[in-house]
Amino acid sequence: DSADKGEYRHFMLKEIHEQPRVIQATMEGRLTDSRVLEQSLGTEAGSLLAGIRHVQIIACGTSYHAGMVARYWIEELAGIPCSVEVASEYRYRHHVVQPDTLFLTISQSGETADTLAALRQAKEAGFRAALAVCNVPGSSLVRESDLVIMTQAGPEIGVASTKAFTTQLTALLIFTLALARHNGLDSEKEADIVRALREVPRQVDQVLSLDGRIESLSRAFMDKSHSLFLGRGAMFPVALEGALKLKEISYIHAEAYPAGELKHGPLALVDSEMPVVTVAPNNALMEKLKSNLEEVRARGGELFVFADGQSGLHEEDHVHVMSIPEVHPITAPIVYTVPLQLLSYHVAVLKGTDVDQPRNLAKSVTVE
Ligand code: G6P
Repeated sequence: DSADKGEYRHFMLKEIHEQPRVIQATMEGRLTDSRVLEQSLGTEAGSLLAGIRHVQIIACGTSYHAGMVARYWIEELAGIPCSVEVASEYRYRHHVVQPDTLFLTISQSGETADTLAALRQAKEAGFRAALAVCNVPGSSLVRESDLVIMTQAGPEIGVASTKAFTTQLTALLIFTLALARHNGLDSEKEADIVRALREVPRQVDQVLSLDGRIESLSRAFMDKSHSLFLGRGAMFPVALEGALKLKEISYIHAEAYPAGELKHGPLALVDSEMPVVTVAPNNALMEKLKSNLEEVRARGGELFVFADGQSGLHEEDHVHVMSIPEVHPITAPIVYTVPLQLLSYHVAVLKGTDVDQPRNLAKSVTVE
């Protein structure tokens, strides 16, 4: 029963732990062992996706971060230009719509006022079609879009979004593969990513078993007022989402930066009172990231690194390394989100905040 916390102290913790199951449910019926079943995205999906030359993503909050990750996937795998913007900005500016652009909205509730307003505007603006990634069947967004990919997160009660985000990423990666197939993605590469995606529920389960260690790390944040989250490439939006979670529920000021921008400002803030969290799978940007981490360490910063065992990063003074299972670089954003959710959760519990109902925030912002 989703309205029941069961064995968990908070809905947020329950929802974090539901992720292996709901990610699996979001893949269900949409994948074979090696392919995306395009028909499962709707009978018109094939004809609709075939002529798409550009994707415009619109969302708010956590859903916007999912869109930012999707942009990396769409440009890398489908080779199609993709723009992402928060709905509240997009709807109030002049914009140029390129021919054959797909308008893609992402929303857990399907009722966010700005996202809906942007969709309604888009219908007049000459987009090819409107696709929604949404978690609530029958919501306004679902009813008003041409094509819908439902996430299967089930009701999300905690105001801070967790399972909605990771299922959005799952749905967006499936969508990207379908789009990419129309744009020259070869079947071997598709199979490689489908296999990686199928591994995600198990990998998330492994991350959940690190809960005790993450809880110990969380003590270092309890009495801090500020924190910095770093990531590169598709891990930058994961850092943004990690920072958003921490500020939402623990009220600690948290900022996320692409690690390469460190020296253009935030480095001035780094000292022993500013914990720095980094999400660092062992990908092509690892070496660059290591030198960013050195910059932080040299200034007395306390580093908390989430990295895989192959990264060559070791626990040392002021460097805490949390080992994450080895994951495919494409699916890493999904898996690396989870330890950051747990970190924020434990910091908030230690601080005694109202985890499921943080002050001043609403689950769904249905008025402007
Ligand atoms: C509110 C919620 C967030 C959510 C955002 C967008 O701010 O507190 O968790 O990410 O709205 O909501 P949506 O339902 O459109 O994803």
